[in-house]
Amino acid sequence: MRTLITNGTIVTAEGSYVADVLIDGETIAQIGRDPAAATVTVDETIDATGKYVVPGGIDAHTHMELPFGGTYAKDTFESGSRAAAFGGTTTIIDFAVQGKGQSLREGLDAWMARAEGNTVADYGFHMIMSDVNDATLAEMDTLVAEGVPDFKLFTAYPGVFYSDDGAILRAMQQTARNGGLIMMHAENGMAIDVVAAQTFAAGTTDPIGHGRARMAVFEGEATNRVIRLAEAAGAPVYIVHLSAREALAEVRAARDRGSRVFAETCPQYLFLSLDDLGNGFEGAKFVCSPPLRPRDHWEDLWNGLIKDDLQLVATDHCPFDFHGQKELGRGDFRKIPNGLPGVEDRVDLLHDGGVIGGRISKERWVEIISTAPARMFGLYPRKGAVAVGSDADLLIYDPNRKRTISAAGHHMDVDYSCYEGRVVQGASDIVMSRGSVIVRNGEFTGRKGNGRYLKRAAADHARLS
Ligand code: URP
Ligand code: ZN
Ligand code: ZN
Repeated sequence: MRTLITNGTIVTAEGSYVADVLIDGETIAQIGRDPAAATVTVDETIDATGKYVVPGGIDAHTHMELPFGGTYAKDTFESGSRAAAFGGTTTIIDFAVQGKGQSLREGLDAWMARAEGNTVADYGFHMIMSDVNDATLAEMDTLVAEGVPDFKLFTAYPGVFYSDDGAILRAMQQTARNGGLIMMHAENGMAIDVVAAQTFAAGTTDPIGHGRARMAVFEGEATNRVIRLAEAAGAPVYIVHLSAREALAEVRAARDRGSRVFAETCPQYLFLSLDDLGNGFEGAKFVCSPPLRPRDHWEDLWNGLIKDDLQLVATDHCPFDFHGQKELGRGDFRKIPNGLPGVEDRVDLLHDGGVIGGRISKERWVEIISTAPARMFGLYPRKGAVAVGSDADLLIYDPNRKRTISAAGHHMDVDYSCYEGRVVQGASDIVMSRGSVIVRNGEFTGRKGNGRYLKRAAADHARLS
């Protein structure tokens, strides 16, 4: 199958220019004005005049089917990857979970089985480590060699995913040796549990208690601590879902002193705020960890993206229905499953708030939604690029089309939207995964099982800025 995309504006992290793109099979074969492609027989020609041609989005932080708080994140690999595709994301990197007492392999195999044959576009895995011991440390080396080079640990959620400082240091020492990357959920979970119990005892049972207990200072403290542990180990570290200026200050200070510290933020921390947690139990729709912060954190985080102290934006997609799932925490905010839906909205929200909002260039937009995650997680230039030889994961993106985000029209398997009624400018007309059109003008044309598992290389983090 050959496809020719004509006259689009190719937008990459490096620059923009008008050119034609010839796709042969699953990859990009030629790029140029009037390439020799003009003489080649093609199966389809797509006129992209007035549109952008950009690399498909890469969401480096999703949780399909994650067990949490006595229930499961509702999107399956099928429904979640399909929703991602509608929103212009053609690669997800999900988190396989090592259950307590299991080997890493058992956890990875279980997540592989959930994804295989079900995912509509390509996918990879990071590994959540629940136990750090001699056996799992040794397994880390095997996983790095096999294409799962990143490991998430938590200073949050005592009794569930929590690791103490010694365990974190040992895991970091291991990645210093094997080239992997530790990803940290950095909130002081012990301190949070104390304040959450006090908040509840004082009579606050509604979701706002979640936001009040998980203080920004606890995120700043834990971020500093894990960065210092990484420095001691001589390992790079990546902070996931950074939400607060206190944490950003720690990342910036570490980068300024030359440490290999990287961080992502999420759309919810750029567009939603603590106010959303305040509307009685409705606020449960917005319960995630770290929590939404006061809105005066937004511009600090945008500045972090502008100055590259934050390298990318991922969603932390972890959807629970309001009815039946979030409701598990009626009367006690500590029992509300943590997580928000978002995999479908990231690309357009960032185009609207970032590019149309005048905060970042369209090239930086492409970088934070696609190129930077590809580089950070060992997929570049196969993904994250519009280049000869790269996978033809492409968006034909209309930067002028407006749409209204609503649960009534979204494709995530969840009964509400965090962005209900918000109008965004910018939308994907066509979404391609390895040369096949999987979404065209709002219709799904892909296929369950079309997604391939991505073995990822350990990135050379010394060479990332
Ligand atoms: O609230 C969140 N973030 N839920 C998903 C699990 C995690 O900590 O990433
Ligand atoms: Zn987390
Ligand atoms: Zn997460």
